[in-house]
Amino acid sequence: MKKFLALILALTMVFALAACGTAPVETPDAGAPEADAPAGKLVMGTNAAFPPYEFKEGETIVGIDADIAAAIAAKLGMELEIKDMAFESLIPAVAGGSVDIVLAGMTVTDERKESVNFSESYATGIQSVIIAADSAIATIDDLTGKVIGVQTGTTGDIYCSGDYGEEAVKRYDNGALAVQALLNGQIDCVVIDNQPAQAFVAANEGLKILDTEYAVEDYAIAIAKEDTELLANVNAALAELKAEGKIDEIVSKYIKAE
Ligand code: ARG
Repeated sequence: MKKFLALILALTMVFALAACGTAPVETPDAGAPEADAPAGKLVMGTNAAFPPYEFKEGETIVGIDADIAAAIAAKLGMELEIKDMAFESLIPAVAGGSVDIVLAGMTVTDERKESVNFSESYATGIQSVIIAADSAIATIDDLTGKVIGVQTGTTGDIYCSGDYGEEAVKRYDNGALAVQALLNGQIDCVVIDNQPAQAFVAANEGLKILDTEYAVEDYAIAIAKEDTELLANVNAALAELKAEGKIDEIVSKYIKAE
């Protein structure tokens, strides 16, 4: 498992560096040619450097969000296409119509709700703190005066900038780069969602997660405000998938119980 995760994370980093602005990546079963069903296409935006929710296996984007989106698309009789982009571009992309839905381990926040609608929640995230195994940081209070690494535009970024001040926060394009800076001793900790935190700690020696829950949040699918029909359809599909146990099945495919 450790080796596997290490490989994934290494690949994630390599591709994340090259990813911004590249051509859309299709899921393996989204094979139909573009011209065939333009009306039936569901375009998902994500930031594929967030294991186990979204990461790259070769050129394919996989993970919990990719599988849930594929299951929703199947229910709606649509063809799923996944576009990888910077995390902070996702809300503008869905609000502006260049993607139809965003699944990116994205937390529902009041500020984001001013720009987009959110589906019912499909998962919980907990903001966690990664530190060096030998760090003197023992509680969340010890973060005062420390340099905190975050992914740009995430709730970790927003909370830490608010709680500890702009100058305390160092922003990175993705979590893997923040973790690399922590390993290099350039920052004191990384604040990121618990599941990616666990994936990064499992893949790298010498890191641990602080025993604290900085913030507990709901993940949901973002959809343009005017796309109310799509929102209703996505919520209906999600409800069915939950009732069928399909969401749990997808989650346990990527998150193995200890
Ligand atoms: N849950 C956090 C947020 O919504 C972080 C999500 C980061 N997701 C990603 N695919 N990089 O701000």
